[in-house]
Amino acid sequence: MRPSPSNRLLLHVQNQPIAGVLHQIKHVLKAILAAIVRIRYHGTSVLQTKLGEAANLVLVPCRAFDSSILGTHSVSRQLSAEVVAQWLKGHPDTTVEYLDLAVNAPNHFGTDAIGIKTGVQAQPTEAQRYENGVSAKLVNQFLAADVIVIGALFYNFSIPTQLKAWIDRLAQIGLTFKYTDKGPVGLATGKTVIVASSRGGVYSTSEGGQAMEHQESYLKIVFGFFGITDVRYVRAEGVAMGEASKAAAIDAARTSMLAVAQ
Ligand SMILES: Cc1cc2nc3c(=O)[nH]c(=O)nc-3n(C[C@H](O)[C@H](O)[C@H](O)COP(=O)(O)O)c2cc1C
Repeated sequence: MRPSPSNRLLLHVQNQPIAGVLHQIKHVLKAILAAIVRIRYHGTSVLQTKLGEAANLVLVPCRAFDSSILGTHSVSRQLSAEVVAQWLKGHPDTTVEYLDLAVNAPNHFGTDAIGIKTGVQAQPTEAQRYENGVSAKLVNQFLAADVIVIGALFYNFSIPTQLKAWIDRLAQIGLTFKYTDKGPVGLATGKTVIVASSRGGVYSTSEGGQAMEHQESYLKIVFGFFGITDVRYVRAEGVAMGEASKAAAIDAARTSMLAVAQ
């Protein structure tokens, strides 16, 4: 039985990459500082920050800080945080887990990640066990969520590698999909995905643009493959086309958010 709307689990996935080690160090230091502040704020609560360990912990999603590699505030981060806030207005008892892929991205899905699943080795290596554990945590966290809010920016006509690395951990046969004699069947049914999308250019209004974008279209296909038919978008596009265009794009996204995140 699906949980009632009052105890839905909302998974907030953010994937703003950071350029360079210095930015990364700065971001991690800020995250530690924010964690310390939260610990002090919540008194006795234990703050778990590693992947998949934040169950039943309500985290206020972090804002952009200086993490955008464009040197400005990240639009997708801002929007995904607002989507979560909007959702919580209508569903105040929702438990939120926050996964920041800029800080905690899984490794690329490599040999060690698939190692145990191939069943070739009788004794998996330490690295294979570790990678398998990461995949298990991420897919279980995903399967437990009813609503998944994803901050998805647009890089080189597609999604950032951090987001792809996360999706690669979700695509597990027998958990999110299976193959039958009639073809693939998605197993992660009944969920809602809300994508907070930001793009430098405009792609949604022309056939040529739609053919060029492999961000929203890809997310719709892959979550559809997992059995999720309710994929919604809050889109800010044209954010690199001048300040007026950026402001109008964010306004449009905020307007659509009222209907999308309820
Ligand atoms: C490395 C890089 C690649 C990008 N590639 C594209 C692109 O192919 N098409 C596009 O319209 N915008 C592109 N952009 C612009 C971003 O999509 C846009 O700035 C978006 O708002 C970034 O998300 P953020 O604001 O959350 O950081 C690119 C930006 C960067 C930094």
